Amino acid sequence: MKTTPNSMEARDLAAVFHPATNLKQLRQTGPAYFERGEGIFVYDSTGRDFIEGVAGLWCASLGHGVEEIADAAREAMLDYSFSHLFGGRTHKSAIELAEKLKELAPVPMGKVFFGCSGSDANDTQVKLLRYYNNALGRPKKKKIIARERAYHGVTVASGSLTGLPKFHALFDLPMEGIIRVPAPYPYRDAQAGETDAEYAKRLGDDLEETILREGPETIAGFIAEPVMGVGGVLIPPKGYFERVRAICDKYDIILIDDEVICGFWRTGKCFGAESTGMKPDTITAAKALSSAYAPISAVMVPDRIYDALIEPSGELGSFAHGFTYSGHPVSCAVALKTLELYERWDIAAQVADVGPYFQKKLAGFADHPLVGEARGIGLVGALEFVADKKTKESFGGAGGAAIDRACREEGLILRPLGDTIAFCPPLIITRDEIDELFARFSRALEKAAPALTNG
Ligand SMILES: Cc1ncc(COP(=O)(O)O)c(C=O)c1O
Repeated sequence: MKTTPNSMEARDLAAVFHPATNLKQLRQTGPAYFERGEGIFVYDSTGRDFIEGVAGLWCASLGHGVEEIADAAREAMLDYSFSHLFGGRTHKSAIELAEKLKELAPVPMGKVFFGCSGSDANDTQVKLLRYYNNALGRPKKKKIIARERAYHGVTVASGSLTGLPKFHALFDLPMEGIIRVPAPYPYRDAQAGETDAEYAKRLGDDLEETILREGPETIAGFIAEPVMGVGGVLIPPKGYFERVRAICDKYDIILIDDEVICGFWRTGKCFGAESTGMKPDTITAAKALSSAYAPISAVMVPDRIYDALIEPSGELGSFAHGFTYSGHPVSCAVALKTLELYERWDIAAQVADVGPYFQKKLAGFADHPLVGEARGIGLVGALEFVADKKTKESFGGAGGAAIDRACREEGLILRPLGDTIAFCPPLIITRDEIDELFARFSRALEKAAPALTNG
């Protein structure tokens, strides 16, 4: 890659260690430098606009440049730039945010534990299960069932829950005690003629067999995204989570709902659990909780779990887990303002209005010779590209990469997940902007298709 000395690209290559990046390829391609954002657009240094087709990383739900959120952050910084929650210290925005999350939660919740990212929140979930079962005198009940293709983060515990091989290789992950079961993947895994109910039952039977094989007394939790994001935007068959819930109840297993992508109206309801029939025990939320204006995550737990921690923490002198920035006042104020705007701008009605339009446009690509499946819900969706529609043969990732490159040339940022291209625009997107997004995508597909069609 040619870079001008002292250009942002050259300075980046010399100094920045990029997360989740092909470090070898980066040396050839160079970084993608954007300078500013406004609404659903970001702009490069020449002023050219690009549509944020995946809302940054599935998170910038209200788009860029919302002044009210910036004002809330500024006010919070000037008012009380830092407070922690250790040792019982507290402050207003943490209290109000915890109350608001309890009000929004799809099932009754007792307490809210704050963190800074989806990964650390899922680590908190893992540690909570350990502490909880030790407190109940069940030291063997520690394993967690996670699904293939799941994405729950990258820290040692959450990276272990993640079910994508590249997040494990060379990191010596997963850690012990993670049990893997198949993800619902109707396009590739449902059998010919199988109904949703039959497929959900088969997945449930598989889960139950796994639990019995491992020993139910050793299984503490089952973690799932209502709709899988990074794994390929996979929507479970109807009845799946009802079956999972029944199995978790039968074997006294905590059902952890990872709402990091689905939470806050992405799937049409406030929580993905409500769109998919999941009745969780605990919830992880992050990303759209603050529309990505500030790092914050939340773990919501019911009273019966919280109450079990009280006595042992008394004996030990502390529930010794938490982060300096758990409940950071600026992040809490930003999240509160974001949640207020979701309500004031009626984001629920907005997604109900433009969601079906977006899905119709996406489904319009299903007949394309390279598209194996178009799928989606609310304002999230995907196109899975295949070399052969009949055999569903994939391009081994080369298809997704080629289409992604063409999208960039057309001013559209999407997310290639192997040969699946994910769409997850900011929730504020208008019909005209949806038209523009798909117009750019059509042009990109037209550009990329010949090379893919001719092998
Ligand atoms: C479902 C899910 N859980 C957890 C995470 C991890 O969140 P973070 O990147 O904030 O650590 C992600 C990130 O994409 C996610 O999609």
